[in-house]
Amino acid sequence: MARTFQSILITGGAGFIGSHVIRTLLKNHPAAKITNLDLLTYAGNLENLRDVENEAHYQFVKGDIQDENLIESLFDKYRFDAVVHLAAESHVDRSITNPMAFLETNIIGTATLLNAAKKAWEGNMDDKCFYHISTDEVYGSLEEEGLFTEDTPYDPRSPYSSSKASSDHLVRAWHHTYGLPIVISNCSNNYGSFQFPEKLIPLMIRNIRDQLPLPVYGEGINVRDWLWVEDHATAIDVILHKGSFGRTYNIGGLNEWRNIDLIHAIIRLVDGALGRPEGTSKSLIEFVKDRAGHDMRYAIDATRIETELGWKPSVTFEKGLEATVDWYLNSGEWLDSVTSGQYQEYYKNMYGNRGKE
Ligand code: NAD
Ligand code: TYD
Repeated sequence: MARTFQSILITGGAGFIGSHVIRTLLKNHPAAKITNLDLLTYAGNLENLRDVENEAHYQFVKGDIQDENLIESLFDKYRFDAVVHLAAESHVDRSITNPMAFLETNIIGTATLLNAAKKAWEGNMDDKCFYHISTDEVYGSLEEEGLFTEDTPYDPRSPYSSSKASSDHLVRAWHHTYGLPIVISNCSNNYGSFQFPEKLIPLMIRNIRDQLPLPVYGEGINVRDWLWVEDHATAIDVILHKGSFGRTYNIGGLNEWRNIDLIHAIIRLVDGALGRPEGTSKSLIEFVKDRAGHDMRYAIDATRIETELGWKPSVTFEKGLEATVDWYLNSGEWLDSVTSGQYQEYYKNMYGNRGKE
């Protein structure tokens, strides 16, 4: 039977996936009050939520998930009966250059939220839910064959994925030790609107638009399983309301692409949309030094969520990628605003002079 919630805390709601989750929950559960707690790091942007910011059942609080006093006071004030925890440092490349920020937010931040939920819900946990959003990267790296299932042993290999794996373990520990009603999902790579252009797809769209070099790590043969972000948001809604406590659900797109093939597909779409002759931007491709410890392949077996909860992806990659390209090309102001300032410095450190501007 589906649960209902009156007051939901979303962490990281100003980020890419969180902003879609907020939109989905407001639409599908209009009676629930949604509080978005976000520190507004470089990856968080209130522009991502412009269309819902005035909704009566939505409010934003700026703050850090590591701030125990703030979190406890929010639980006191708003009597949350559910937490959907998305706030995280989320970019593998940044985790390689600055791992400590990942341990702080992803591990200590998660533990702080778990403690606050436990304290607020002690003695009355039945109608509550702490939902932790995680990644398939906790399972490590696949070779050519096989898929990650919920029983695949954890084998994280980057500072990002090991910090997420740690947080998953903490969430399970709070369930087994203190009886906290939790669910966890581990999802594959998301794509769609409002993704910060440090990640592959928006970075490539922007660089093709601006005729900048397209940095392909290594040989471009690493494989990712891409999922439309709005399908992920729907899966999160379903798991929050129907998932079994203590259970993990893998979410994936059944949609594997080698990076280089995906980049060629994006080139075709962007050049086409901008009226350039086919293949114009192919010459921008530059094979650059590989990412340290680069995981070869991720791919998800999403049988459990389909058979137990009836969810499966609704959007084909063809349609989703075309819509994504259109969105970025028509959202020049958003793209330019998030790539001004700090982004320039990040880009220079990461890619050297390839981002000439
Ligand atoms: P994102 O980087 O776009 O957004 C993260 C948000 O968290 C930002 O709004 C940021 O301001 C906020 N934040 C960061 N540190 C914070 C702190 N200390 N306190 C409060 N807020 C803080 O990330 P995303 O891609 O939307 O990912 C959201 C979640 O989903 C993450 O937990 C990530 O691990 C997970 N995930 C992402 C993907 C993907 O493909 N993007 C896939 C699977 C799982
Ligand atoms: P990314 O979007 O960072 O997601 P993740 O590393 O979490 O899967 O990268 C997706 C893939 O694209 C990954 O194999 C690394 C590769 N990549 C590039 O080749 N060039 C780039 O500039 C970026 C950002 C990623």
